[in-house]
Amino acid sequence: MMGCVPASASPDPRADAGRRPIGVFDSGVGGLTVLHELLVQLPQEDFLYLGDTARFPYGERSPEELARFSSQIAEELLRRRAKLLVIACNSATAAALPILERRMMETTLGVDVLGVVRPEAMQAVAATRSGRIGLLATPTTVASGSYERAVSSVDPHVTLQAVACPTLAGIIQAGEQFDERAVDSVREACLPLREADVDTVILGCTHYPLIKPMLQRMLGPSVTLVSSGAALARQVEHALSTRGLSNPRQHGEGDYRFLCTGEPESFRELGTRFLQMPLGEVERVELQSVEALA
Ligand code: DGL
Repeated sequence: MMGCVPASASPDPRADAGRRPIGVFDSGVGGLTVLHELLVQLPQEDFLYLGDTARFPYGERSPEELARFSSQIAEELLRRRAKLLVIACNSATAAALPILERRMMETTLGVDVLGVVRPEAMQAVAATRSGRIGLLATPTTVASGSYERAVSSVDPHVTLQAVACPTLAGIIQAGEQFDERAVDSVREACLPLREADVDTVILGCTHYPLIKPMLQRMLGPSVTLVSSGAALARQVEHALSTRGLSNPRQHGEGDYRFLCTGEPESFRELGTRFLQMPLGEVERVELQSVEALA
């Protein structure tokens, strides 16, 4: 779903709009798995990614907190002339997208906001044959009920078995290789989904695509795993072309740049594993308060 963010810092936000970057944000490096898909599907576009590494993880924070963080980040990306905002983070989308949309609906000179929940839910409903879908996500995402709402708005007869995984994102982020503890956590998360006999599982956290082979093995080869990147990329492409905001670049690829709120060096080190492409420039950013949006 989309909402509008006032592009207050730009005097003429429509001027040469297509050449402006797409702003993407996340709690840290995890959203780089989503950016990866966007870079593959939309090579002609420029991207500006902000990882809120200083405040990672988001997965057990309250909706109010995540709405505040997301508003601060949105403001920063708009100051840097983003033409569209993408919330790559499942926890931030689940907890804060509706609040962000409500707060920011008031201007016609705004910038649209896309989140990851709805594209994944639509893809999962299209994939299921049995009508039983599973969800693996952070506690904040599960508690928000946003995937249930998104799934039942597409098809009210489809059921969702949600499993909150409080430690999994941290374990994936920490581990170059998987030890016994990681394998046990993944197995534990998969157990309720096996018992519920789901045929489709939504990977409801930016980190989980990194353990896709392990999940597929534990859930069984006939289970369809749905991650947000590809479906979101199609939605971004649609939003840009219907608004006349596609980058007019004819040849070559666009550029991508990174902002983070924590240590740029550790962002770069971790980020390469998540992006699976070379990381360019990483700049540390101080986020400002959001009185204007409160
Ligand atoms: N990007 C976050 C998410 O998808 C990763 C987990 C976290 O920050 O707790 O929910």
